[in-house]
Amino acid sequence: MPRRSPCLTLGIVVLLAAATLAGEPIFDARPGHPWDQLRDIFYIRRFSTGEVFEDPHAFAPPWQECYVFRRDAAFHEQVVARLEAVERLPTSRMEDQSPSRRLILLKDLWAVFDRLEMVDSRWPVKNDRQEVDLKAVARTEELLRRLARIMRRLELTDEEVAALPNALQISADQNLHPKMFDPATADKAFLPSDLLDTNGPWVAYASEPEPSAGGTAHMSFIRHRSIFTLHLRTPGGRDEGESFLQEYTKANRKKDVPPGTMLALLRRSIVPTRSGSLRVSPFVESLQLIVATPPEDHRFKFTLDRKSLLAGGPALKRLGPESPLDHTNLEALSVDVHPNSPRNYDNGETAILARYRSVNEVPRSLASCVRCHFETTGSNIFGLMTGPRLAYAQPDFEKAEAAVLKVKASSPEWKLYSRLRAEKSE
Ligand code: HEC
Repeated sequence: MPRRSPCLTLGIVVLLAAATLAGEPIFDARPGHPWDQLRDIFYIRRFSTGEVFEDPHAFAPPWQECYVFRRDAAFHEQVVARLEAVERLPTSRMEDQSPSRRLILLKDLWAVFDRLEMVDSRWPVKNDRQEVDLKAVARTEELLRRLARIMRRLELTDEEVAALPNALQISADQNLHPKMFDPATADKAFLPSDLLDTNGPWVAYASEPEPSAGGTAHMSFIRHRSIFTLHLRTPGGRDEGESFLQEYTKANRKKDVPPGTMLALLRRSIVPTRSGSLRVSPFVESLQLIVATPPEDHRFKFTLDRKSLLAGGPALKRLGPESPLDHTNLEALSVDVHPNSPRNYDNGETAILARYRSVNEVPRSLASCVRCHFETTGSNIFGLMTGPRLAYAQPDFEKAEAAVLKVKASSPEWKLYSRLRAEKSE
């Protein structure tokens, strides 16, 4: 029997470990689907120890300056090869795929597009003589152009956007979680399927009286590719909730939410459509919940489970106590990234990832909530970091949505995308 060298065995063990930690394929049961290959090259993160990780809860790639995509010619070629493989796919494997499948890849690539647009305009790569490296600029432009071509083929029609699945409804139909928080089983998660019901017990609100979705800090952090709405449910129901908001503002924020109040932060996809515009969709990407149970609140977070949704299973996954925080979301601001802490910026990762050597070192998501929200909500709705804010009911969803779309539509990254998607492919 030939014996394996210890080195080879170690190599296989490392590879196996890497395979289990790396993201599972989403678009096919087996690895190797061109869509998965493309997504992976942007979303998989290799720690300096060799640990491979893909955050299943993130909606943007783990890169800040994206150096490796712009500076490293050999890596850039690999990325281009994966983009080309998708560009070559026939209509049956692109435009004709189901709207949910297209949306998932489109949204994940859109986050990459926006990131590359930003780094190119704000942090151009310099060469040894401190001049802008023109090769890096050309590489970035090539990636942006190819991404735009693929994204355009994945766009949805207006009818498809309206008919997208709503994870809250799916989980209600599947009877997976109760609709309400139950203090008797306080650790049990709940999923309020009536959150967007305009006559139901949940009242949407924002800190400004004009039409607004409310989640302004979250939306600007992720450059308005999703809408974040805020919802409040006091124990007495809708009328009590509406009067609470009025009294809270009248009392200049010096009023605590009644114990038992539930607060929700709902994230839904904004979708680029075939007509070249943007639409708000019912497609839920995450849901964060706080139940005011002084002296210590209960908190829950769910995010989209892409693979399970596409397979017809539960669309949302509940985060456990061990889930790392989402370094691509506002949550990242709860971590002090000390200027003196050792980090490795060589590849241009996000500051949090560059700082930790292993995924186990990254702070936990559910442990982060208290840093902005206190032990109990009391009068601190809207998180602490933005300072005290007033709160107004937002009954007109359509106007609030239009206000968010307007911000994105006038952004430089959307203007660039609109220009590139209109170019003819050579
Ligand atoms: C870095 C600070 C920060 C962290 C960490 C954070 N939040 Fe928030 N949260 C905010 C801000 C700011 C808002 C107000 C909405 C906005 O402006 O986007 C908010 C709003 C909310 C709301 C809507 C109710 C309200 O207070 O207006 C809920 C529910 C919520 N967050 C849940 C959570 C949960 C659950 C966690 C932990 C997984 C968490 N948050 C972590 C800053 C934070």
